[in-house]
Amino acid sequence: MFDTLLINIGQLVTMDHKDGLIRGEAMQTLPVIENGAIGFTDGAITFIGSMDDVKLEAKEVIDCEGKLVTPGLVDPHTHLVFGGSREHEIALKLQGVPYLEILRRGGGIHSTVSATKQATTEELVKKAIFHCNRMLSYGITTAEAKSGYGLDVDTEMKQLEVVQHVQETHSIDLVSTFLGAHAVPKDYKGKEEAFLQEMLDLLPTIKERNLAEFVDIFCETDVFTVEESKRYLQKAQELGFGTKIHADEIDSLGGTEAAAEIDCISADHLCGASDEGIRMLAESNTVAVLLPGTTFYLNKEEFARGRKMIDSGVAVSLATDFNPGSSPTENLQFIMSVAMLKLRMTPEEIWNAVTVNASYAIGRGDVAGKLRVGRKADVIIWDAPNYAYIPYHYGVNHVNTVFKAGKKVVK
Ligand code: NIG
Ligand code: FE
Repeated sequence: MFDTLLINIGQLVTMDHKDGLIRGEAMQTLPVIENGAIGFTDGAITFIGSMDDVKLEAKEVIDCEGKLVTPGLVDPHTHLVFGGSREHEIALKLQGVPYLEILRRGGGIHSTVSATKQATTEELVKKAIFHCNRMLSYGITTAEAKSGYGLDVDTEMKQLEVVQHVQETHSIDLVSTFLGAHAVPKDYKGKEEAFLQEMLDLLPTIKERNLAEFVDIFCETDVFTVEESKRYLQKAQELGFGTKIHADEIDSLGGTEAAAEIDCISADHLCGASDEGIRMLAESNTVAVLLPGTTFYLNKEEFARGRKMIDSGVAVSLATDFNPGSSPTENLQFIMSVAMLKLRMTPEEIWNAVTVNASYAIGRGDVAGKLRVGRKADVIIWDAPNYAYIPYHYGVNHVNTVFKAGKKVVK
């Protein structure tokens, strides 16, 4: 007897590839059951297969009437916790002042740092829950959450604690990343090494209190160099953290190569990744997390070379980069459309990127991103007839129903 049974599913996209990252030819394939059914009991999937093989014994039977059903989406790169917002910078943006120039002038990330310092833990928790609810409403059932708007010991710890509080009450699964090295604080210009050391000194406490699994750094002109980033992340690795890097987002510095060299779990952005960087990624286990919504919103032409990366054998994933400056959106479905148009990714590649590869990019490959008997029932019913329809019909929310661990959380 199932708690819930979904029947008459037009396309049931299971994503149940063999375990591991999806790359090369495999990115073109999607495991799909036509005319399928899926049942869950006690929060876990207990049946998945064809309508012909299912017993209609359930407390609740939902007739999907030919709709699309998929795993919950995984968003592997978000800056979930922050105070305030940045619409006051629109005028500068429209005048053509570049992102890094706004940062140099003390705006951008620094503006959000001030707002985050001023906010109380309770205010930040309330705001983060608001954004988590919206993520869930767009079909995201697992998301990464970075700190990085403190740039000092107390505020960075406050942000990490906020993620922990939210996780205690919210049904979305969060994966916490420490991004203390997100910018150079104004009073540390020229003393970058000292600042990085302060952030590194926090890591033992973060580990002890289980406040983050990953450590990330913004490797960029006027922020942290490739050498600084490498040394910093290697020290984090020695302390038992997985590592991520904001690499080659605006200027092409070589962060992509560094990520492959030191075996980061993911290298993110990669708009300016070199041919050599792409070749090295293809030979590594580092996932390329591409964020085309950010390139769109920064109004830039140089999108990451997703097509070339996939053709070269890189394991590619996609994320919102949800943050108050370069990508204020929780809508991963919109990012899927931008990836189709600007990265020239096919619908199959896009679905692999927002499920399986996204889950591996945050160390959740064994629990999220696919539908399989025994796994948590994170399941989406879409108001769409097939998977290609989601990136195709852009800018709207196609979610019909979200089940998180078998429980209906959005309807
Ligand atoms: O991924 N580039 C660095 N961090 C974010 C933006 C943060 C912000 O502007 O507040 C990003 O684009
Ligand atoms: Fe980011």
